[in-house]
Amino acid sequence: MIKQAIIPLAGLGTRLLPLTSVFPKELLPINGKPGIEYILDECIEAGIKEIVFIISKKKKMVKDYFYNDKFYTNIIKKKKDPRIISEYKKIIKYKKMIKFVYQNKPLGTGDAVLKTKKYIKDKFFLMLLPDDLIVNQNCSKSMIKVHNRNRASVMASMNVKKNTVTRWGVYKLNKKLNKRDYLISDVVEKPSVKKAPSNKAVIGRYILPVSIFAKLSKQKPGKGGEIHITDAIQSLIYQKEKFIAHNFSGKYLDCGTMNGYIKSALEIAKL
Ligand code: UTP
Repeated sequence: MIKQAIIPLAGLGTRLLPLTSVFPKELLPINGKPGIEYILDECIEAGIKEIVFIISKKKKMVKDYFYNDKFYTNIIKKKKDPRIISEYKKIIKYKKMIKFVYQNKPLGTGDAVLKTKKYIKDKFFLMLLPDDLIVNQNCSKSMIKVHNRNRASVMASMNVKKNTVTRWGVYKLNKKLNKRDYLISDVVEKPSVKKAPSNKAVIGRYILPVSIFAKLSKQKPGKGGEIHITDAIQSLIYQKEKFIAHNFSGKYLDCGTMNGYIKSALEIAKL
């Protein structure tokens, strides 16, 4: 069973400047709720019991959001507003599940994942990238089902336009397992249009094996000088570790770019 999840939040958020110059993007509201709460609700509904946040000093506000008890209890003493009480209860529920670990320099997603090594207890764990919202389906829950059936690593996937492959991790299909699941034989971080093995991209949900930590500890920087999780996954695939791409049925909302963030709020308001 997958009971632990990790969420990297230590990036710079440059694509959302100026909103992110002082404010962490994960706390930006999407239809009246901080983006990170959509991710936490997805985890809880998927049966996750413990979540590790990878933050940086600049993202300390994320921790403060969950540790603001005094403020809430004072307000609730004065105003017995049921809405505030229920919001506070929700924050307490989240707080009980979350551990924080620091990545002091944004060296890449792979380096962020490596920081959680000592917290992971089982053979597999879930990773969610908070910029990637998936609505109309609990993608993590579906991926956990795929994992339980196959005892393999799983990555969320979707088809993208060929001319946008340079933005994503793109994988090579080995075998179709069923309508939504594919065994993969390679994955490449941000390939050129010419070199892309397909138009199938990896989206920010991963069920990873603990063997990824050994790979990451030796991982050299790749594209753009960053240590990418995709490169460590590629090494594991080359060593015959089984990875399945799950073509999720929900709708993907990219909250990491300004246009995507604005669109996400409009889409969620329609739900
Ligand atoms: P991205 O590279 O897509 O986003 O990282 P970013 O760095 O936050 O923002 P931009 O690209 O400057 O606009 C994907 C996820 O991985 C985390 C980010 O916080 C984001 O949630 N991340 C990235 C880390 O935790 N550490 C890193 O070193 C890099």
